Amino acid sequence: MSVRIIDGKAISGQVNDETAEMTADLAKRHGVRPGIAVILVGSDPASQVYVGSKGKKARELGFRSEMIVLPEATAQEALLAEIARLNADPGIHGILVQSPTPRQIDERAVILAIDPAKDVDCFHPFNVGKLLIGDTDGFLPCTPWGVMVLLERSGIRPAGKHAVILGRSNIVGKPLLALLMQKTAGADATVTVCHSRTPDIAMFTRQADIVVAAIGKARFLTAEMIKPGAVVIDVGINRVADPSTKSGSRLVGDVAYDEVAAKAGAITPVPGGVGPMTIAMLMRNTLRACQKSIGVVPA
Ligand SMILES: NC(=O)c1ccc[n+]([C@@H]2O[C@H](COP(=O)([O-])OP(=O)(O)OC[C@H]3O[C@@H](n4cnc5c(N)ncnc54)[C@H](OP(=O)(O)O)[C@@H]3O)[C@@H](O)[C@H]2O)c1
Repeated sequence: MSVRIIDGKAISGQVNDETAEMTADLAKRHGVRPGIAVILVGSDPASQVYVGSKGKKARELGFRSEMIVLPEATAQEALLAEIARLNADPGIHGILVQSPTPRQIDERAVILAIDPAKDVDCFHPFNVGKLLIGDTDGFLPCTPWGVMVLLERSGIRPAGKHAVILGRSNIVGKPLLALLMQKTAGADATVTVCHSRTPDIAMFTRQADIVVAAIGKARFLTAEMIKPGAVVIDVGINRVADPSTKSGSRLVGDVAYDEVAAKAGAITPVPGGVGPMTIAMLMRNTLRACQKSIGVVPA
């Protein structure tokens, strides 16, 4: 049996094309365009890259994009004041603060300060609660939503399947549990979540029809841990040494790709799998926020 490669680059491209089309339509019919504000506190090089690519994608899709770079020593109050200014700006529909923030910043207070109607990362407890109870009126968290869209657009139906998630973070594992277990089309899975205190993780993954690895450990999931034909979604992004490359390193996922691909039914690569979906869903959330702000029912 040959493995199917789930192409996150191609699927995110489709999602982005649709977003651009809906954005142009919104501008034509209602004279508004989505606005996103990304705040970066400090000068962490990886964060600069992430923030830069979010701004670039927003502009490509026809959004207004505001990038706010604050010094490393920014006080909590100054950051909260910036968020309050953006909350009050009717031209900004989505606000996000790039993580990690410097030590003096309380990330929980930052999340609570963002207007839930502009919380396009879906980190605010109001939106997380809506997600859990299956209220589709809120936002969906970008990376887990990206995983659901990858499955859906690859014709993989989780209904009645056993999905095993590795990792229970607030950003990936927990919200993905909520999405996969919902009583709704495209979900309806039976879900197991494993974490660092789970003994014998392979005992669970070997039973799984769908395995999602999101733990941040390079090549953790090996072929002997999956059953033949399983769908394997790799959320992990890990930099490992590779003297054969110019930079001396490269990115790999949480899955031992070559050996798992030889046994799986479908698999996402790293890079080019879940990664591009995250930004695509962030942009879709920002479009949704803009549509809702003018009373247009989002698609
Ligand atoms: N593609 C994307 O857009 C995207 C987005 C977000 C994250 N990521 C990547 O996904 C990975 C996970 O990110 P995250 O933010 O969820 O990480 P995180 O907050 O560090 O959480 C890691 C989770 O994995 C569990 N874990 C760690 N080591 C384990 C082990 N040896 N066995 C079993 N469970 C283990 C932890 O368990 P405990 O809870 O018990 O500590 C925790 O629940 C990272 O590589 C990250 O870069 C990618």
